[in-house]
Amino acid sequence: MKKGKKITILGTGNVGATIAYTLAIDGMASEILLIDINDKKAKGEAMDIFQGTPFCAPVNIHAGDYEEAVDSDVVIVTVGLARKPGQTRIDLAQANVNIIKSVMPQITRYAPDAIYVVVSNPVDIITYAILKNTNLSENQVFGSGTMLDSARLRSRLAEHVGLNSKNIHAYVFGEHGDTSMIPWSLTTIAGMEMSKYCTYICDQNNRCGKTELKEIEEDVRTAGAQVIALKGATFYAIALSVRRICECILRDTDSVMTVSAMIHNQYGINDVCLSLPFVVGAQGIRRAVVPPLTKDEEDLLHKSADALKQVISQLKI
Ligand code: 2OP
Repeated sequence: MKKGKKITILGTGNVGATIAYTLAIDGMASEILLIDINDKKAKGEAMDIFQGTPFCAPVNIHAGDYEEAVDSDVVIVTVGLARKPGQTRIDLAQANVNIIKSVMPQITRYAPDAIYVVVSNPVDIITYAILKNTNLSENQVFGSGTMLDSARLRSRLAEHVGLNSKNIHAYVFGEHGDTSMIPWSLTTIAGMEMSKYCTYICDQNNRCGKTELKEIEEDVRTAGAQVIALKGATFYAIALSVRRICECILRDTDSVMTVSAMIHNQYGINDVCLSLPFVVGAQGIRRAVVPPLTKDEEDLLHKSADALKQVISQLKI
């Protein structure tokens, strides 16, 4: 009999294992199930975290198989190949779509009512593939998308203007990848529109002029690749992003987050998954938030949608 909230994590590579560890420390779930094709790895990760749980809130973390995923509130999908240095997320597309198509029927058989948080890359394509290959509803399935990119933008912009990142509201829209775009017109710093903040508050060193913003945008877009080039993989920031998403689901917070979901005519875009602001709560995606964009911003968003559709058209989804 399930006592509290149950989270199942598919895949216990660097990302899946770090998410498991992060969730165990957080204490929001009373049960965490780890499933991996390499069952020894899943068992080892579960044991390693379990042995530290006397220092955390009680959590039953264990490895198992699909049939143990019954009653999961959330299923986190991290299965698939990870990017290697120099690879783009899109390079993984067909291989990871094939893996997903073999895994999803097994997990949805036992957890048909869970909220599915997709992390496997290319996350927009994998989210789309899951929706096209299962009977899960569109509110039940969404990707971490540009939650991580938006966090990278907020931390980088906060560093630039010398404030705490919690005083920065900024988003990255579109693909979690090379065609992502930043709707600068929506950015606020200390509750002010960025342009106003820069006019009245910034000094010469931390201006947010075109040059500075271009540099910040490039930094954010390549942040994942920079980390992979240095340490071979990324897993801490994505794990913290997924922790935040799970918190919003399990605590039903109705938070606005840039996650990757099926798009229905927002900005005239259809039949693709990409990141825009969505309200996320216990039922997953509650609704879209569609802020006004400048013409240039809408054009960039369309470019991102078209790039994703181009990839989808070349895959066996
Ligand atoms: C990243 O950007 C894992 O795609 C993820 O680090």
